[in-house]
Amino acid sequence: MNPTLMDEYQRAAQAPLAQAHCLPLAVYHDTTVFEAEVAAVFHNDWIFVCAESQLASSGEYCALTLAGEPLVIIRGADGELRALSNSCRHRGTPLLEAGYGQIGKNIVCPYHAWTFTDAGALKGAPMTGDIQIDKNEHCLPRFALACWQGLVFVNLSDAPEPFSDKVAGLDEYLADFEPSRFKHAYQTDAEHWHSNWKLAVENGIESYHLFKVHKETLETITPTKKAYYITGSTQWMLTGGEMNDTRGTLEKLLTGSYPEIYNHYRLVFLPPSFIGVLTYDGFNWIHILPEGPEHCSVTPGGLLESKVKDFESAEFQFTNQFLHEDKLICERVQQGMHAKKGKGGKLVSMEQILVDFHQYLAGQLFSTQREAD
Ligand code: FES
Ligand SMILES: [Fe+2]
Repeated sequence: MNPTLMDEYQRAAQAPLAQAHCLPLAVYHDTTVFEAEVAAVFHNDWIFVCAESQLASSGEYCALTLAGEPLVIIRGADGELRALSNSCRHRGTPLLEAGYGQIGKNIVCPYHAWTFTDAGALKGAPMTGDIQIDKNEHCLPRFALACWQGLVFVNLSDAPEPFSDKVAGLDEYLADFEPSRFKHAYQTDAEHWHSNWKLAVENGIESYHLFKVHKETLETITPTKKAYYITGSTQWMLTGGEMNDTRGTLEKLLTGSYPEIYNHYRLVFLPPSFIGVLTYDGFNWIHILPEGPEHCSVTPGGLLESKVKDFESAEFQFTNQFLHEDKLICERVQQGMHAKKGKGGKLVSMEQILVDFHQYLAGQLFSTQREAD
């Protein structure tokens, strides 16, 4: 334990904008901090997993490791989505391989073929000899799951806060974009960044860096100067911006067939790790998961009105390009986090959303209730 660093983290994370500085640099690589965040944030709050429509038919699943926890989200034959432990109740082998797939009738362990139903009940264990296996004692543990705007979230806590509290008041800010039109999900491969997860998140939510890091890419469409802050609570934050007229916006507005928000975007941040960008054309996101104190995964995805036909299209190349710019800058910043005499500097007005994020972290890590636990 490093109590001094945790104290400094708490002080920095709780500061309002006028006093707010970047968090102490060591919290971006310290192992104790990382373990505390996994426990109090990723294993305690609602975490995005995938789009509901990616698991539309019975037997379809998404298996993943969520901050060390093997999980599978699976659509049962009864139509229900469940979040189950992906760890076999015999000797702990991960049951389904990470990624998307479809089970046959049951989940069969690749080690000794213990067999579970799509709801996690133990159905049978072969060749157990004289030993009776109590089936009720050997079910796959189940975790809380909730759906919102076509997205699936899970919560690994034994006593999760209601999901409705997490997104309370948010929908009304998104309604103009009519997000229910976006039914077709896509996801591209996860990128692995040599960067602490918070650096990747902070980089994903602030628009301050666009004019410098993305001079030739994002800045040409969503310039820093046209970005604005909307509102934030401890559970979600919303910013937005005006887009340059690169898609015939004016013409579309003049024909009267598009709402006024057509040339605006909303950045929807559901901490700790979901960063969505909502426009009138779709809801795209990146999802960031920690993979160690100095590593994280970044997975792009989205919901659109029609199915993606071409992942080589100019639009996807554009996304790959600006995400590569983000990867390079985050990995560079990560190296700076080891500076012995380095110290976080003052945050500026455009970084209000970082202040909100830090206050969220403070709430998760240092609330009095948690200290009492
Ligand atoms: S570990 Fe799964 S059946 Fe043995
Ligand atoms: Fe960026």
